[in-house]
Amino acid sequence: MAEPILEVRNLVKYFPLTQGVLFKRQIGAVQAVDGISFELHKGETLGIVGESGCGKSTLAKVLMSLERATAGEVLFKGEEISRLKGAALKAVRRNIQMVFQDPYTSLNPRMTVGDIIGEPFEIHPEVAPKGDRRKAVQDLLDVVGLNPEYINRYPHQFSGGQRQRIGIARGLALKPEIIICDEPVSALDVSVQAQVINLLEQLQGEFDLSYMFIAHDLSIVRHISDRVGVMYLGKMVEIGSDEQIYEHATHPYTQALLSAVPVPDPTGREGRERIILSGDIPSPANPPSGCRFRTRCWKAEERCSTELPLLAVPSLEGPAAHESACHFAAEREVEQSAA
Ligand SMILES: Nc1ncnc2c1ncn2[C@@H]1O[C@H](COP(=O)(O)OP(=O)(O)OP(=O)(O)O)[C@@H](O)[C@H]1O
Ligand SMILES: [Mg+2]
Repeated sequence: MAEPILEVRNLVKYFPLTQGVLFKRQIGAVQAVDGISFELHKGETLGIVGESGCGKSTLAKVLMSLERATAGEVLFKGEEISRLKGAALKAVRRNIQMVFQDPYTSLNPRMTVGDIIGEPFEIHPEVAPKGDRRKAVQDLLDVVGLNPEYINRYPHQFSGGQRQRIGIARGLALKPEIIICDEPVSALDVSVQAQVINLLEQLQGEFDLSYMFIAHDLSIVRHISDRVGVMYLGKMVEIGSDEQIYEHATHPYTQALLSAVPVPDPTGREGRERIILSGDIPSPANPPSGCRFRTRCWKAEERCSTELPLLAVPSLEGPAAHESACHFAAEREVEQSAA
């Protein structure tokens, strides 16, 4: 496996909850990201999946240094970056860029496409000196499959898919090594989603990019991811290779998400039961004790309310041996293979 380009260690991001207008008192905290550790390897795509509010975008923002971590470490090529400031922060930020979910709201409607894509050069003029910028932007338009002559047009003159291509061109402008795609196709028509995903894959090969690809459900990331991490209420509950997650999931939450994925070949997956999760997602300001998933888990026992299951590799052989945060991860695989 390639060396890690990004290492995340025990990352925590809490948002304070305050009360009072004049004299704000902190009355609690939203535990948006609570002790997450993983690695992103050079040239790979890591899918991150979980329901709304589980902390995916917050994780992305902390990795991008758009939000300060409450605790923990982020290492880019071995260097701790979560507490950098000034010029050092600026230099590192160049290497990690983001593509946002909604191409309708993330592009400034009053700026031309040329100004939108070229804006990062204002902060990093060393990448494209002033005289070269027009050419640089036209090259970027070409790279994402748009006509370079569109440079003076405005966002409203483009379709959703084309706008997302503009967002991707902007993300590429500074020649980053990592791109974090935060639900880049969720706002697009299904027919356009595949085109944008294909473009991202093609660009990955061309520019040697490492991706973190955030999505709500497992079906979208399946095609593009080498590894997948599943989040629930601020925690990573399971992470592994494509095969480990889609064929040998050991965490009940992942199994529930998988059961909701439409199956392309019905004969290959006969007998997969649809698992309907009962109850709402608890508030991240007041998460359950022990295992955070236990209030919705059909397998939960006494122990789950008192002991926090750590993300660890259960003592199992084969593809089931991957990180899972369930007390019964080892037993679950036995049960599955016996069925
Ligand atoms: N700036 C903020 N201040 C306070 N709370 C926040 C802030 N940003 C996010 N949160 C809270 O943190 C939790 C995680 O939010 P986040 O946006 O990271 O989730 P998400 O997984 O990206 O959800 P979605 O799938 O809807 O995009 C939520 O409870 C959210 O309300
Ligand atoms: Mg989000």
